[in-house]
Amino acid sequence: MGIVNSSMLTQLFPPKPAFTEKSIPDLQGKVYIVTGSNTGVGKELARLLYSRNGRVYIAARSEAKALSAIEDIERSAPRSKGALRFLRLDLADLATIKATVEEFTGRESRLHVLFNNAGVMYAGADRTAQGHEMHLGVNVLGTFLLTKLLTPTLAATARAEQEEEEEEEGEEERGTAGAAVRVVWVASQAAEMFAARSVGMPMDDPDCSATERAPLDRYGLSKVGNWAHAAEYAKRVGRREGIVSVALNPGNLASELYREQRGLFRLLARMITYPCVNGAYTELFAGLSPEVTMGRTGGLDWVIPFGRIQPIRKDLMDAIKSEAEGGTDGNAKFWDWTEEQVRPDLLYQHFTLPQRKFQTPETVMSHMNVTRFGSSAFRRARATSRSTQGSRRRLGGNFRRSAASGTRTIADAARCKTPDAVQRANPADEVQIGGARLAITASQTRIPPSLRSLSDSPLQFKSEPTPTITRASLTTLTFVHSYECPPIQPLLKAENLDRGHAQTARTMKRKRISFATQLACLALVALTLYFSRRQLAQLPRPSLLSGNSNETPAGSNNGALSQGSLEAYVKAIMEPGDKELPRMECPQLSISRYNHLKPSVPIRDPEIPYFFALDLRDCLNILPRLIGSVVEVIRFLGPERCALSIVEGHSPDGTGEVLQALKTELDILPTTYYFQSTDIDPTHGDRIAKLATLRNMALQPMLLHPKSFSADTTVVFINDVAICPEDILELLHQRRHLDADMTCAFDWTYVGRDPTFYDVWVARGMNGDSFFEVPADGSWDSAWNLFWNDPEAQSRYSSHRPFQAFSCWNGAAAFTAAPIVEKKVAFRGPREGECGQGEPQLFCKDLWFNGYGRIAVVPAVSLGYSDATGKQIKDAKGYTSQWVGQDGQVDDTIEWQHEPPERIKCMPAWENQHWQLWNETLR
Ligand SMILES: NC(=O)c1ccc[n+]([C@@H]2O[C@H](COP(=O)([O-])OP(=O)(O)OC[C@H]3O[C@@H](n4cnc5c(N)ncnc54)[C@H](OP(=O)(O)O)[C@@H]3O)[C@@H](O)[C@H]2O)c1
Repeated sequence: MGIVNSSMLTQLFPPKPAFTEKSIPDLQGKVYIVTGSNTGVGKELARLLYSRNGRVYIAARSEAKALSAIEDIERSAPRSKGALRFLRLDLADLATIKATVEEFTGRESRLHVLFNNAGVMYAGADRTAQGHEMHLGVNVLGTFLLTKLLTPTLAATARAEQEEEEEEEGEEERGTAGAAVRVVWVASQAAEMFAARSVGMPMDDPDCSATERAPLDRYGLSKVGNWAHAAEYAKRVGRREGIVSVALNPGNLASELYREQRGLFRLLARMITYPCVNGAYTELFAGLSPEVTMGRTGGLDWVIPFGRIQPIRKDLMDAIKSEAEGGTDGNAKFWDWTEEQVRPDLLYQHFTLPQRKFQTPETVMSHMNVTRFGSSAFRRARATSRSTQGSRRRLGGNFRRSAASGTRTIADAARCKTPDAVQRANPADEVQIGGARLAITASQTRIPPSLRSLSDSPLQFKSEPTPTITRASLTTLTFVHSYECPPIQPLLKAENLDRGHAQTARTMKRKRISFATQLACLALVALTLYFSRRQLAQLPRPSLLSGNSNETPAGSNNGALSQGSLEAYVKAIMEPGDKELPRMECPQLSISRYNHLKPSVPIRDPEIPYFFALDLRDCLNILPRLIGSVVEVIRFLGPERCALSIVEGHSPDGTGEVLQALKTELDILPTTYYFQSTDIDPTHGDRIAKLATLRNMALQPMLLHPKSFSADTTVVFINDVAICPEDILELLHQRRHLDADMTCAFDWTYVGRDPTFYDVWVARGMNGDSFFEVPADGSWDSAWNLFWNDPEAQSRYSSHRPFQAFSCWNGAAAFTAAPIVEKKVAFRGPREGECGQGEPQLFCKDLWFNGYGRIAVVPAVSLGYSDATGKQIKDAKGYTSQWVGQDGQVDDTIEWQHEPPERIKCMPAWENQHWQLWNETLR
C-alpha cells in the first residue's frame, strides 16, 4: 500500500480558508463542546464559535489552562453574547468520562456539535489509567466513549432541532434538512497514510500489547481509528438519530502537538505548519458548513484543509463496506473491539482483566519480559498493583514468547480468560471459562509491589480442567499456585501470529520510511528556500513601492555606513538577542497577556490588522531598540498580519541606508514593508504643516491599498523613542481592552530626580488643560506637578491606571484606522483662526469631531528619546510590566465621557495662552 495519494499535496499546501466566522450565522442558543480547547487548534475554534455568540464548553484536563484560555478568548471578543465554560475531561482515564458527561448534561439539555479535537502525539511509553497505549487510549478510546455517552443528548438535540425546523417550514421529511447536529472527529493526514489497505485499522494488536511500534506509528494508527469511528458512527448511529458524523484532517498546524518530538522533527514541522486558526477553520467547516450533509459524510468523504470536502483514499471504501457487500468490514470490527474496551462493567470494576487474543498454552508459553520493556511495563504494572479498594485495576503488560516451559505468570493467566467471567468474579467464587471451570479461591500469595516480583509469581500447569485464580480480597490480588489456561479459541495460530506481526512490522517500517522521506523532501525545499532567501529577495517582484519616485532614500548609498556597519545594524534590528550594538535592555514579553492580540484570521486573508508607522530622521543609534522592538512585535503578532511603513529623510548618519536594507529581511519575514525617503525638512518653514505631511506619507499605503487595510486596522504610530516590545503591545492591549479609539504612552525628558513629561504641547486633559502648568515665562518648574487641577486624572495617573484625555500623542500612539479610511481624517496644520497646537492635537480634535473621542493615556508605558534616557526613565518610572499583568490584578476600565471639554487651552506660545472652543473652525 502506498501512503502517498493524489490529494496529499493539496492537503499539505491548501488554499486559504473560504469558510470563516464571517460565513456562519449568529450562534446564540447553540451549544458546542470542543475537547482539548485550552490550546492549539481547539482554542482557536472555541474563539471563532464564541465570537459568533455560541455557548462553548472548553473540555480540558487542566482547569488552570482552561480558565486562562477562557480569559484570553473573552478578551479577544469583548462584545460576544456567548459563553465559555470549563468542562473537566481526561480522556486518558475512561472511568472519569461518565462524570464529565453527567456534568455537562446537568447543565445543558442540548448539544449541537461535539468537536472531538483533543489529541496527543506522545513520545513516551506511559499508558492510560486503564493500561491502554496512550495514543489509542486518548485519541481513540476516550474520544469514542465520550461520544457514545453524549449521543443521547446529541440525538435529543437533533430531534428538537428537526421539530423546530418542521414547525417553521411546514412538513418536511426527516433528515433532509438540518444537519445541525454533528460529531466532528479530528483525525489527520496520517489517517490516510497509516490506514491498512482495504481494512483501515489493522486489527493485529491495536493496543500494542505485544508489538513494539514507534510513537509516530502509534499516533498515525490512532488517527486511522478516528476516521474509522467517524465512518462507523455515521452508519450505526448518525443516520438513525439524525447526527452528521464527519472526520477531518485539520492541516499541519503550528500548535503544541509536536512538543514531545525531537528538535529536528519540530524544526521540520515548523517549516510546513500554518497558524492554528487555519485548522480551526477546517473544523468550523466540518461542524457548521451547509456543504457538509448527511449524504456527503459517513467516511466516504471527509474534510481536508482548510475546509473542503474530498473522498477518502479509494481502497478504504472496503473498510466501510460489510463482507456481505464485498468489503472487509474493517471499521465494524474495530468498532466492536472498541466497544469491548469501554464496557462500563470493565471500567468501573475493581479488577478488569482484558480479553486478549492469545495462543493456547499447548502451543506457546509466555512470560513477562521485564528487561525488554523495562520501565513502561514496570510503570504499568505498578499502576495496576497500587490500586486499593474501590479503584480500578488491570492486569497486563508487554510480553514475549519464550521457549516452552511449564510455568506461567499471573499476567499470562489474565490473558487466558474472558473478561465476562473475571469481572463477575468475587473472592472465593468459581467461574466458567470456556470449557473449563475456574475456581477463585483464597490464597496466601499477595501481589508483590514490583513488576519483577509480579513476574516471578509462578503459576503451575495442572492437567485437570480446574484452573484456579484467586482474589482473596478487593484490596489484595492473589493467585493460587496453579491453573490451566482454558481452551480459548486462538485468533491466529502461532505461525500465523508470527507472520502477522512480521508483516505489520514491515508495513509500519515502510510507512515510517516513506513518511520520513516526505518530511525530508519538504524540509529540503524549505531549507533551500531559507538559505537562498537573500538571492530570492533580489528577484524582481511586484514592488510595494512600485512607481514611487522617492523609493531610493536620500541618504542611501552616500557612504555614511560601511557595509559591515550596515549589516551590523540590520542584524541588530532583526535579531533581538544581538549584542554587537548597544541598546536599551527590555524585559521578556508576557506572552499570555498579549496572546489575544494575535489575529485570528487566516494567513492569506488580504486584510492586515496592524499597521506600524514611523517618521524618522537621523536617528541611527536608536534603530536597534526602536525598529528591533517593532520587528519583535511584528513577529509576535504574525509577520503576515502586519505592515510597516517608514518615512525617512535628511539622515546623514545612515538611518536611511539601514531602513532601506531592511527591506530584504522584512520581505523574508514576510511583512509588508513600505519605505519612503523624502526631502521634506520640517526644521525649515511651516513646521506643523510639514510634520503633518510626513505623518500622512507614512499612512498613505493604507489608503493606496484599500483591500489590505480597513476600518478594523489598528495603526501604531511611534516617534524616535526607545521603546520595548511590551510598551507597544500594552498600547494595543489597552486599546482593545478599554475599547478605546486611541491609546497613548507617556513620554519623558530631563531625567533627574523628577523626570519631566515631554508632550505638554500636544496633550490636553478632559478639563481641556495641559498636563502641567506652564506660566507665561515658559518655566517648566511645575512639570513635576502633573494634573494639578484634575484630581481624577491625577489619581489614576499616580496609580498607573489609564485615563481619558482630550488629546495625546506622547511618543507613541495606537489608534483605529476607521476615521482615516472611512472619514478621510488626516494629519493637518491649523486652519485660519484655529489654535496652532501641533498636528497630533489637531488629529485628536478631528477624531472627537468624527465621533472617536475614546482617547486614553496609558501611564504604565514610559518612553524616553534615546537608549540612555529611555533606561533612566524606565528605572525611575518603572517598566510597563512592573505595573500591569500581575497575578490577580484586574485591568482597569474607563467610564468614557462622550462629550469633549467645551474649551481647550491653546498655547501657541508660552506668553500667549488662551482658551478656545474645542471645535473651533470645525462647526
Ligand atoms: N497540529 C497539527 O499539525 C495537527 C495535524 C493533524 C491533526 N492534528 C490534530 O488536531 C487536534 C488538535 O491538536 P493541536 O494541534 O491543537 O495540538 P495541541 O496544541 O497539543 O492541543 C491538543 C489538546 O488536546 C488536549 N489533550 C491532550 N491529552 C488530553 C487528555 N488526556 N484529556 C483531555 N484533553 C487532552 C491538550 O490538553 P493539554 O494542553 O492539557 O495537553 C490540548 O488541549 C489533535 O487531535 C491532533 O491530533 C493536529
